[in-house]
Amino acid sequence: MLNWLGGFAVKFFLDTANLDELKKATAWGVVDGVTTNPTLIAREGRPIEEQIRLICEIVDGDISAEVVARDAAGMVKEGRELARIHKNVVVKCPLTRDGIRATSALSKEGIRVNVTLCFSPAQALLAAKAGAYIISPFVGRLDDVGAIGMDLVRDITVIYRNYDFKTQILAASLRSPIHVIEAALAGAHIATMPFKVLDMLFNHPLTDKGIEQFLSDWEKVFHESHAAG
Ligand code: G3P
Repeated sequence: MLNWLGGFAVKFFLDTANLDELKKATAWGVVDGVTTNPTLIAREGRPIEEQIRLICEIVDGDISAEVVARDAAGMVKEGRELARIHKNVVVKCPLTRDGIRATSALSKEGIRVNVTLCFSPAQALLAAKAGAYIISPFVGRLDDVGAIGMDLVRDITVIYRNYDFKTQILAASLRSPIHVIEAALAGAHIATMPFKVLDMLFNHPLTDKGIEQFLSDWEKVFHESHAAG
């Protein structure tokens, strides 16, 4: 999506494999893609191929599906199978030595890879050099261990910009609206969030108060004059 300056606007991805949540959020017209992981797929109880296919029918955008093999050969095999499910599938590989090896191999075949479980700028550099389509720094999980997770997003933004890496920065493990705002301020290309966080972005008490006041002022004049007429 282009912004008013002709650049790219921040994309919102939903971090869920739940079809009801995806349908509800898609109807709002603000969902650009989906991220899943083995925990989220397992929660829904269907085989990954089937669940990803169903997700692709709901959301027209990048849909990340993660490999579960631990060795590079296994990841490449799984990655090829996942990529065959739908043209929008982005294969997710973990930031391990084998994951980077698989990322490099899959990227050379033209398969787009989201490198996940990134916790340092050095790891992000490895992913970009391996040709990753997306890097996923985990903000909330760094906060959990006493670091400032968003600093990682800021650092990666500077490093990638220095060298014009094309890898997109996807701020992951976002837990609150403030995380989403800070990810956008840091210049992340994508913010992925649970449905609950997307839903919270709407809320402001002054919006609710303003609507109440506008409608009650309206009703006082038009409803009462109708009633009088
Ligand atoms: O995008 C990664 C996400 O699924 C992890 O989130 O809250 O489990 O750290 P969280």
